Amino acid sequence: MSSQNIYILGIESSCDDTAASVIFNGQILSNVIASQKIHEEYGGVVPELASRAHQQNIVPVVNQAIKKANITKEQLHAIAFTRGPGLMGSLLVGTSFAKSLAMGLNIPLIDVNHMQAHILAHFIDEEGFNKPPFPFLAMTISGGHTQIVKVANYFDMEVIGETIDDAVGEAYDKSGKVLGLGYPAGPEIDKRAQLGNPKAFQFTKPKVEGLNFSFSGLKTAILYFIQKETKANPNFIEENINDICASIQYTIIGILIDKLKLAVKQTGIKHIAIGGGVSANSGIRQALKAGESKFGWTTYVPKFEFTTDNAAMIAIVGYLKYLEKDFSEQHVTASARLKI
Ligand code: KG4
Ligand code: ZN
Repeated sequence: MSSQNIYILGIESSCDDTAASVIFNGQILSNVIASQKIHEEYGGVVPELASRAHQQNIVPVVNQAIKKANITKEQLHAIAFTRGPGLMGSLLVGTSFAKSLAMGLNIPLIDVNHMQAHILAHFIDEEGFNKPPFPFLAMTISGGHTQIVKVANYFDMEVIGETIDDAVGEAYDKSGKVLGLGYPAGPEIDKRAQLGNPKAFQFTKPKVEGLNFSFSGLKTAILYFIQKETKANPNFIEENINDICASIQYTIIGILIDKLKLAVKQTGIKHIAIGGGVSANSGIRQALKAGESKFGWTTYVPKFEFTTDNAAMIAIVGYLKYLEKDFSEQHVTASARLKI
């Protein structure tokens, strides 16, 4: 990497987190996130409310990121922002703000693909965290994404598998809704799963060709199962909540690991990196670790704050692109369905 001293501001606004981060070379100086609590009442992200909240949060969040980094905005070398994929109204706030700031400071603007950023978050300099060597397989698992990506180099990525319907985090959150748990339900299901019997109840795994995933059938199966059981016993959920959570988790982790095994078999690549909110899950972490001795894998899990939506991952991509002088034009537009 370069011996220059480069400061980049990263801005993320693709979904319901307004985030800004300053990176100095490969090292994060600040990583500020304003999460939008408003969506909890609705049990999911409401796009219109998300874009309004971004509008309110973006100036204070960016100011705080610059302040925490202990620099002035005049020291920045470039502004990196999430161009997509994501919610259009949300993306527009970050995109417009980044363009104006870059223009005002007369410095380069760098557009970033949010999905590439989840993967390249592994290249943030962080003590105690190893960077995966190329080529590696990346599995991005969150409330909005489920992909397996073959990563040949920083910007040479190929999606080799993805969900054909819901993301894995949605499977957690929607199952949680059926069970009367709060939103997002992933952490709660994970906590309870550790207290229950994973084989108490069986749910069939979806049959999807190749490396693609499907989670919508599982959600329906869980719904029907709960409806049937609560008809026979109205206290069924209360009496069995830990076992239900453990069984759901066991099924979901089984689906993810089966596909990873197939991806390793097909590509011959045994370095596996994960990212996205679901990578906080204790079950997936244990299963990946077990894969190291069982299948000879080497696995990489970034620091938690870099796995969920954040701007540090946007800043690291900004830095990598800055080194290659890969800048954007001022007329760049947000793209809700941007591909890797
Ligand atoms: O990456 P993220 O913060 O936001 C996006 O969706 O982009 O991921 C949030 C998702 C939610 O669906 C949440 O339920 C899930 O990650 N999640 C978990 C856990 N922690 C968060 N799912 C399972 N186990 C967890 N420990
Ligand atoms: Zn994300």
